[in-house]
Amino acid sequence: MTALLLITADDLLLDELLRLAAAAGAAPEVARDLSTALRAWSRAPAVVVGADLLVGLARMGPPRRDAVHVVGWGSAGEDVFRAGLAVGAEHVVELPDGASWLTTLLTDLGDDPGGRGLTLGVLSGSGGAGATTFACALGQAAADIGPALVVDADPLGPGVDRVLGMEEKPGVRWPDLAHTAGRLGSRSLREALPRRGALGALSWAPGAAGRAAMPDPVAVREVLSAAARGHQTVVLDLPRGAGSAELIGRCDEVLVVVTPSITGIASAARLVDSLVDRGGGLGADSGQIALVVRGTGVSPDAIARTVGLPVRATMTDQRGLAEAIDLGLGPLRSRRGPLARATAEALSLCRVRAVAA
Ligand SMILES: Nc1ncnc2c1ncn2[C@@H]1O[C@H](COP(=O)(O)OP(=O)(O)OP(=O)(O)O)[C@@H](O)[C@H]1O
Ligand SMILES: [Mg+2]
Repeated sequence: MTALLLITADDLLLDELLRLAAAAGAAPEVARDLSTALRAWSRAPAVVVGADLLVGLARMGPPRRDAVHVVGWGSAGEDVFRAGLAVGAEHVVELPDGASWLTTLLTDLGDDPGGRGLTLGVLSGSGGAGATTFACALGQAAADIGPALVVDADPLGPGVDRVLGMEEKPGVRWPDLAHTAGRLGSRSLREALPRRGALGALSWAPGAAGRAAMPDPVAVREVLSAAARGHQTVVLDLPRGAGSAELIGRCDEVLVVVTPSITGIASAARLVDSLVDRGGGLGADSGQIALVVRGTGVSPDAIARTVGLPVRATMTDQRGLAEAIDLGLGPLRSRRGPLARATAEALSLCRVRAVAA
């Protein structure tokens, strides 16, 4: 694994960055000149550029890449901002004020070098179609491969921590994150959430308190961004109706669970139309939205034609579901059966699509 790249010829700045990196447990590679910087530019998982070399670097036109951050002493001038834009920097950090922000960033990079997990949303095509169950099962299946998180974005749902048997586990819930401002560390979020093994749950406070609404959009965005940096897979249990458009925009793919009856299909078709119309970052053509069929009835092909979306997975009803949930095992009690097959299928198709995108 290659290290975080620091680009600066300013000794004082380098000392400070190395000090902050050490505090964050990161061991960076240092480039004190532009040609060394360019050689390491593309392979580093993340780059911190000192304001001293930034303008020169921008002139050399390095290839576009993610995770570039600019750091300088005091307030950055217009030339720094312009050069920052030219190299595609995500942030311009001004020291010493930005030191703690930078420590969080470095901790984050040391923990999750240059990655963003797959974010999937699950919606019910009609009330009770099985979205919450499928979202939790997807999370369980994803946790077999790497760190995964199920996020409850439906304040009126049963609580994904309850469905996953984690309602007694200590850890942060949505109301604890309502006042998130600034950058939230991915590792600190992951470690603060209720978890069982590789699977975490972000849900509501027990009882009625805090169930009323999602936190404000800025806090939600920061939480989802930290969640995606800190997990290989994040699954959102989305609410039907107003309020979902912003969340849907954060998803790499949204799966709509449909029951194969005339009413189930009609309802799903309306829901899909409203989402695409509302411009929630979705395009039926781009394949960011697809169907999962639960139960038996109308054929998947006919459903796909009627709703105008591809079917990612089909499944018959899962036996023993209520019992597995009552036992605190989550919906995916065994790795066999219709629910396990459908989640595995949907996960691998979504992964293939995300890699190809
Ligand atoms: N795969 C499945 N096999 C059998 N029963 C299921 C399955 N998925 C869901 N159910 C049953 O359907 C009911 C509703 O499930 P769930 O809460 O997951 O639906 P939902 O789409 O999230 O509902 P809502 O629209 O209220 O959010 C539950 O009682 C659950 O046990
Ligand atoms: Mg639900």
